Amino acid sequence: MELTNIILEKEGKIAIVTINRPKALNALNSETLKEINYVIDEVEKDEEILAVVLTGAGEKAFVAGADISEMKEMSTVQGRKFGILGNQVFRRLENLEKPVIAALNGFTLGGGCELAMACDIRIASTKTKVGQPEVGLGITPGFGGTQRLARIVGLGMAKELIYTGKIIGADEAFRIGLVNKVVAPETLLTEAKALANIIAAQAPIAVSLCKAAINKGMQTDIDTALSYESEVFGECFSTEDQKEGMTAFVEKREKNFKNR
Ligand code: CAA
Repeated sequence: MELTNIILEKEGKIAIVTINRPKALNALNSETLKEINYVIDEVEKDEEILAVVLTGAGEKAFVAGADISEMKEMSTVQGRKFGILGNQVFRRLENLEKPVIAALNGFTLGGGCELAMACDIRIASTKTKVGQPEVGLGITPGFGGTQRLARIVGLGMAKELIYTGKIIGADEAFRIGLVNKVVAPETLLTEAKALANIIAAQAPIAVSLCKAAINKGMQTDIDTALSYESEVFGECFSTEDQKEGMTAFVEKREKNFKNR
């Protein structure tokens, strides 16, 4: 697939994925969603990539939402199909076996906030503005916002943000736990890559199993969740990297993980 709205780059063990429609503040149209889906395939099958940084092109926006020009004339059927497409792609991203860090370099609105919430970790810059302004356009959030926001920031805060459509700054997003960290705009990408590289230096299978266990466990009761944790914990002992990690510790030497 030829990518026109996304840039996929590799730097050692990490991939940098950039949503690249800066003239439309990186708004997500159907084509861009399909390209994100394709990039997920590429990242998934590339064994060298162990972590991903997702960001937006230009100075102003991570993603300013789903594409309003495309949605404006949609019928009920088309609206539903568009919502399903966004939800399917973001769910795949959420379930990707490699951790994804969103570097929110500006407006992170509507579908942009929803994209960020499908990532594992969000880092904002002091310029970042976050919100779910859909009700001001006569629609509900459609790419997971009504579901993931409450799971991340709690019911009351999610309802306030979604019912009012208000846009909050980076410090407020940090205060409510929507982003992990706020950094200066000029260091955002460096910080996100540094974090991705720290993660990529750990045992990849263990990191991947942690992601699956946390994601799965959050959606089920504690007993089922803990039994899933025991399952993945046990699975680690079938990996070479568990032997390597523990042997290196005992021998007081650097570990050399092989992703096996
Ligand atoms: N869709 C399509 N185009 C968009 C867009 C969007 N979500 N957001 C910005 N753009 C376009 C603008 O139309 C403009 O294009 P032109 O230059 O061709 O006119 C360009 O990007 C620059 O935007 P502005 O001139 O508006 O820039 P600004 O600095 O004055 O304002 C902004 C920035 C406050 C982010 C404003 O662009 C804005 O409010 N954007 C829409 C935000 C929004 O409502 N997002 C939610 C969309 S609905 C959704 O996402 C549904 C869902 O859950 C699936």
